[in-house]
Amino acid sequence: MKQLYGVIGCPVSHSLSPVMHKAAYEELSINADYHAFHVEEKDLKEAVNGIRALGIRGINVTIPHKVSIIPYLDEIDPLAEEIGAVNTVVNVEGRLIGYNTDGEGYVHGLLPVLTKDFAEMRVLIIGAGGAARGVSLTLAKYGIREMCITNRTESKGRHLADDCSRLTEAAVLSLGRAQAELPGFDLIINTTSIGMAPDIDRMPLSLETLSQGAIVSDLIYTPAKTRWLQEAENKGAIIQNGLDMFVNQGALAFEKWTGKSAPKEIMKAKVLEKLG
Ligand code: ATR
Repeated sequence: MKQLYGVIGCPVSHSLSPVMHKAAYEELSINADYHAFHVEEKDLKEAVNGIRALGIRGINVTIPHKVSIIPYLDEIDPLAEEIGAVNTVVNVEGRLIGYNTDGEGYVHGLLPVLTKDFAEMRVLIIGAGGAARGVSLTLAKYGIREMCITNRTESKGRHLADDCSRLTEAAVLSLGRAQAELPGFDLIINTTSIGMAPDIDRMPLSLETLSQGAIVSDLIYTPAKTRWLQEAENKGAIIQNGLDMFVNQGALAFEKWTGKSAPKEIMKAKVLEKLG
């Protein structure tokens, strides 16, 4: 019987997950399908019950349901619990287990461009929302030397730094301090929407004093190269947009659902083709 998977979100019609997962099923000859389900916030509880009732094997969760789905699930993986958000649900014989593969997806995408061990790295995260929580807490779990958080709303940044400090050395920095300390970071990650339309000319910080050999990440992948990444590249940095994180979070979900190793190159090629 055909296995059914999908993504729930609102809006969800532009999600690249269906083409990416279908490409993986086709490559590995898995008899499965993947749908994008538009679910309004008021219908979330019923939609989750529908996953059980219809025997849907796995669901990705996107905006705005990553946090609000938690009370409706049967079990939450400890990392997802710490992050406070779920992007992947596995249906184990009617028991719905929530995971967060966003942070792990980011780290898997980062590994090929790393030039230092995690234990030597000082990392600056710009932003303190859901994406920042996933990335920073996962990096902290991997044992990076120091995690600094800077955010427009400093209280949210402080809260995230407190959570990270249970796993590694962590601090909140004002935007001014973060700017002044920029040369001290090995990895700088923009998790905010600055650089995405209509904010395409803005940068989260100036990269004037970027250190040689730093890695600069942007979780945005449309546009493929934000002004922030363009300027980092001009300064000789290693740059990475959010596409590898997207592909790797999907690959990790695929592996949890199917128990098979995900054909990541095929998945990435399909997403790139769709992006045009
Ligand atoms: P996501 O799930 O993508 O992380 P989110 O949880 O809404 O989305 O978090 C958005 C993050 O981007 C927050 O850190 C937010 O800053 P605030 O905590 O001050 O709201 C940041 N952000 C969004 N738009 C921004 C802007 N125009 N300038 C600066 N920071 C911005």
